[in-house]
Order: sequence, then structure tokens, then C-alpha cells
Amino acid sequence: MAGSRQPRTRGAPRDATPREPMIVAAQLTKAYGNFHAIDEVSFQIEKGQTVGFLGPNGAGKTTTMRIITGFVPPTSGTATIGGYDVVENSREARKLVGYLPETVPLYTDMSVKSYLNFVGTLRAMNSRHLRNRIDDVVDVCGLNDYYHSYVGRLSKGYRQRVGIAQAILHEPQVLILDEPTIGIDPIQVVETRQLIKDLGEENTIVLSTHILPEVSMICDRVLIIHEGQIVAEDTPRSLAERLQGVERLSVEVQGPGDQVASVLRKVPGVMNVSYSEEGDRNTFRLQLRRGADLRDEISRAIIENGWGLLGLQLESMSLEEIFLKLTTTEDTGEATYQGGNN
Ligand SMILES: Nc1ncnc2c1ncn2[C@@H]1O[C@H](COP(=O)(O)OP(=O)(O)OP(=O)(O)O)[C@@H](O)[C@H]1O
Ligand SMILES: [Mg+2]
Repeated sequence: MAGSRQPRTRGAPRDATPREPMIVAAQLTKAYGNFHAIDEVSFQIEKGQTVGFLGPNGAGKTTTMRIITGFVPPTSGTATIGGYDVVENSREARKLVGYLPETVPLYTDMSVKSYLNFVGTLRAMNSRHLRNRIDDVVDVCGLNDYYHSYVGRLSKGYRQRVGIAQAILHEPQVLILDEPTIGIDPIQVVETRQLIKDLGEENTIVLSTHILPEVSMICDRVLIIHEGQIVAEDTPRSLAERLQGVERLSVEVQGPGDQVASVLRKVPGVMNVSYSEEGDRNTFRLQLRRGADLRDEISRAIIENGWGLLGLQLESMSLEEIFLKLTTTEDTGEATYQGGNN
């Protein structure tokens, strides 16, 4: 449990303990039978940061979010929000949090207004404050034209906005948004991202996505989750630099495949070598350390061994390829990167 840390303020969301990370997850594990949906996941999120969980389907993003919002308990490990343990001090922790779940539990036969009113009442907001806040969030979320519409008649994108509106209604300091732009048309996606960015100026935000450009646009930091574990952590900018920096070289050589491969593997800066044979011609695919342009060294190594160099081409990896690379379990080599431990 949270140990000696005592929340200094009870029910005063504006005053989370200064300089303490807003969200702390420590070795969170969620097991379903023998299967670990997440396994010893640890991270810290500073107040005011916007952090993206990036990962493929089934990676464990929703599971992690459900735990830190107090919706499901972890099998082991702890999580705190603003110093409050999400299990031990669930009520206090939840007051600090607005949550947009993967599937928003909207009541389709309510109008936007009455739905938000209902949510605010559940959160025990006083009625005048609630009235003002509904006006505010309807404005912020661009729902003015739909104020009296039935939620069930709204498009997917506008329902998502209602989902965000209910999440921010009680002015939480922390927003947990599970795939906030999924299923929304491109124009609404742009608007929704802008809305999240604006909210991020004042709040701490965790959002999940499997769209790389989305994290670059919105987030200060990215945690890449794969098969229940954090496999990389970085700022989008240095992630992109790292990613762009990883080079691939394709080399065509006349010579014995295994011997050539073994020589190429020894060239400093070469991370990985694979090849395909076509008679005595082999095409080698090399992965090079970031920023390394080893064409000189590679050609010299081939020629010095008396083999024929038939072709050599440098290729850069796309972000998508790198993402796959980072989340690939087969080759853990240099690609699996843990940037800065928590
Ligand atoms: N209640 C449950 N019982 C059994 N397994 C579960 C349960 N909830 C989630 N899982 C499994 O845990 C793993 C992680 O699921 P999770 O929903 O966290 O993934 P995700 O990263 O959010 O994926 P997506 O991008 O598809 O939303 C998956 O393999 C999923 O099938
Ligand atoms: Mg999910």
C-alpha cells in the first residue's frame, strides 16, 4: 500500500502534494487466471503532463487505465493519484479523475443536457455549480448545437464529445482518456485533438491510442506498451529522432551467405543482419545503429574479402515500421529500449 505517504488535503482537488508525481503506478499486474493482461507495469506522471499510452490491440492500455481510475483492482502492485491510493483511498483518488472509458456508458434516451445533469448529480455537485459547469463544458466540447438533442441521435464523434464533457464536468485535475479519437471522422479528429491539447494546458492527461501521429501531436511523453509491459518510454520528439535515425541497408553480394553475414555482423554499428540467397548472389538486410551511415565500412569489408559488391542501398524506417520493431518480441536486441527508469 501507499506506506507512510499521507494525503495532506482531504477532498481538496486543487492541492495535490507539490512536486510529487500526480500518478504513480508501481509494478501493477493484472492476472486473469494464468494470463497477465499487464505485468509489473511501473511509471510516474508529473502534474500537468500529457502522456500517451501507445500500443497494439490487446497490449494492456485499457487494463492499466481501468486500474488507475479505480474501476478494477490490480492483482498486485499499487497506484496512486495525487498521493491517494486508488484502492485504499478510492473515493479521494476518484474525485481527482475524469475518465473517458473505451465504451462510454451513455444513456441514449436522455438529452445532452439531462445526461450531464445526471452525471453531475451522481458526483454530488451542487446544483448552481453544476448548471454553470454544464454551460462551460458544452461550450468547451462544441456541443452547443446539440444541447437538447437525444444522446442516441448523435453521431459517434459527438457522442465522444459528450463522453469528454462528462469526464471534465467536475473539473478533475487528471483526465484518463481511452482512445478518445477512435471512430471519429478526420475533421472531428482534428477538433477533438485540439480540445485535448487545450485541456492539457491545465490538467494531467493520460490517453491511449494506437495512432503514432496522434501522440506526436498531443503528448509530452509516450509509453509504448506491448503484451502487458512497457517496452519503451520517451518524448515523441526523441522517439521520432530515434526512429528516423534507425537505418536499414540492403546489400547485394556475390559470395558465401554465411561467411559474408558473419563478417557484416562484426562491423561496428551493425545491429542485425538477415539475408536471402539466390544462387551465389545474396541480398543482405542490415539494421544499423541510429544515425550510422556505414556504407563505406560495409563495402570495404566486402571487397577486402574478395567478394563481389553488386549493390548497396540505404533505406530509412518509417515510424510504423519502428513501432512494430519496438513492439516485436522476436528481436529484443537494441530495438527494445527503456528510456529512463522510473
Ligand atoms: N476481463 C477480462 N478477462 C480476461 N482477459 C481480459 C479481460 N480484460 C482484458 N483481458 C485481456 O487482457 C489483454 C489486454 O487487454 P486491454 O483491453 O487492456 O488491451 P488494450 O491495449 O486496451 O487493447 P485495444 O487497443 O484493443 O483496446 C487482452 O489480451 C485482453 O484479452
Ligand atoms: Mg483498449
